[in-house]
Amino acid sequence: MKIAFGSDHVGLELKPTIMEYVKSLGYEVYDFGTKSNERTDYPIYGQKVGKAVANGDYDLGIVICGTGVGISLAANKVKGIRACVCSDCYSAKLSRMHNNTNVLAFGSRVVGPELAKMIVKNWLEAKYIGGRHERRVEELAAIESDNEQKFDELEHSKEFDGKEQFEDQSL
Ligand code: RB5
Repeated sequence: MKIAFGSDHVGLELKPTIMEYVKSLGYEVYDFGTKSNERTDYPIYGQKVGKAVANGDYDLGIVICGTGVGISLAANKVKGIRACVCSDCYSAKLSRMHNNTNVLAFGSRVVGPELAKMIVKNWLEAKYIGGRHERRVEELAAIESDNEQKFDELEHSKEFDGKEQFEDQSL
């Protein structure tokens, strides 16, 4: 699997450590920048990684800025990207299982290297479980395409199963 990396100058401190770690787990990695300590803008790298994942050149993306927020917002503006900022392993894992996230973001000023590695491992190793989550992910795509008709069809395509909220407690 190929993983695209990107960061701004603040995320640069953590990025090489995480890239090395991901490589050691057996993934192919590529750095879309930044590669210098000079001040730069996180949207540049959020967009680069988002496009690389959305066009299928890379399977997943990992982006880092000071908080993870700015660069995740940038990646999320690319059609087809579902990016999440995570500073805990549970959210990282569930974001893949339920939301089928394809870009992970975190903040180099928020998480340390060891926690970041755990977050990344949980995210990379989790699998999308589909099922009842498929309609919701399709609803996200309908919002993204501003397709209100599709969204309405999806919303009314299935009765809400009130039991489902209890199903995941074993995770
Ligand atoms: C840069 O100072 C900082 O704003 C950036 O790294 C990031 O935290 C933005 O969300």
